[in-house]
Amino acid sequence: MAELHCHIEGAAHPDLVEAHAARHGIDVSAIIHNGHYVWHDFTSFLAAYDLASSVFRTEADYADLAADHLGRLAAAGTIYAEFFISPDHAREAGLSPEAYVAGLSRGIAQARHDHDIEARMIVVGVRHLGAEAVERAARFAARPGQPLVTGFGLAGDERIGAPADFARAFAIARDAGLGLTAHAGELCGAESVRATLDALKPSRIGHGVRTAEDPDLVRRIVAEGIVLEVCPGSNLALGLYPDAAAHPLKQLVATGARVTLNSDDPPFFRTSLADEYAFAAQAGIDAGTRLGFTRQAVEAAFVDEATRRRLQDRLGLVAIALGAPSAGG
Ligand code: ADE
Ligand code: ZN
Repeated sequence: MAELHCHIEGAAHPDLVEAHAARHGIDVSAIIHNGHYVWHDFTSFLAAYDLASSVFRTEADYADLAADHLGRLAAAGTIYAEFFISPDHAREAGLSPEAYVAGLSRGIAQARHDHDIEARMIVVGVRHLGAEAVERAARFAARPGQPLVTGFGLAGDERIGAPADFARAFAIARDAGLGLTAHAGELCGAESVRATLDALKPSRIGHGVRTAEDPDLVRRIVAEGIVLEVCPGSNLALGLYPDAAAHPLKQLVATGARVTLNSDDPPFFRTSLADEYAFAAQAGIDAGTRLGFTRQAVEAAFVDEATRRRLQDRLGLVAIALGAPSAGG
């Protein structure tokens, strides 16, 4: 498996958050009950996410978090993972963005050494903090000397701000040679995806599932080769769809769209990347097509071509793990 869409703070397991909270004297009892996160809608999810993030305060805390996250993924058979990082969340916890990236980079190096998993980071701007904050995140992402930061994206509450508000931030990131992705078509519909593609020109869309509501837009994303970072467990937990049968994963695959499978904020949504692949299997998607999600993720990864080829060479192992006939080309 390979994953392109996961928020590092959203990957923090409740036990790890409780351990760090105790160390720093922070009360997290409002968001963790009996070892599980509690929230009831997107707004309270974001609030729980922000409080959980606040317990990671040092470079070492973030090294631990990245190593924990990547270790779990590797144990489940994952060869590559990108995760979103948010300098605004680090600053809010009193940590400089530089120390944040240094700690996370250390965690990646440790996981690569211990578990043979490769990873890269995508700096995100948080749209509900406004265009100025998102531009500041883009300027940080664009700095040289951060070899594992290879992308820039837009996260946060899609209902706030128009995509065009963030065009300058995306221009800064594009000029720096970063890969581009933006959350759209999650809380808002197809019109939000269309406006995001027009204004920000990302190669990938975070979620994008609501594209399925508009056949013209489906034709556009297929024609333009836009990659969808689909996160079914997240969508179901947040109530975008009433049940698994209503989720458009299979429909999107049938259109020929470039689909990847992702876990978003796994313990918040009681999912994992392996669970997402199991969801696809239960939806009637065969093993060869499931392997295609991994192949697609490697093709769309924000990595140099030598790394991409090394990952492609490992697809045979993923095929065996998924029970797929062959890795193919
Ligand atoms: N930040 C963390 N998880 C998110 C999600 N699912 N959508 C938007 N922003 C997020
Ligand atoms: Zn997300």
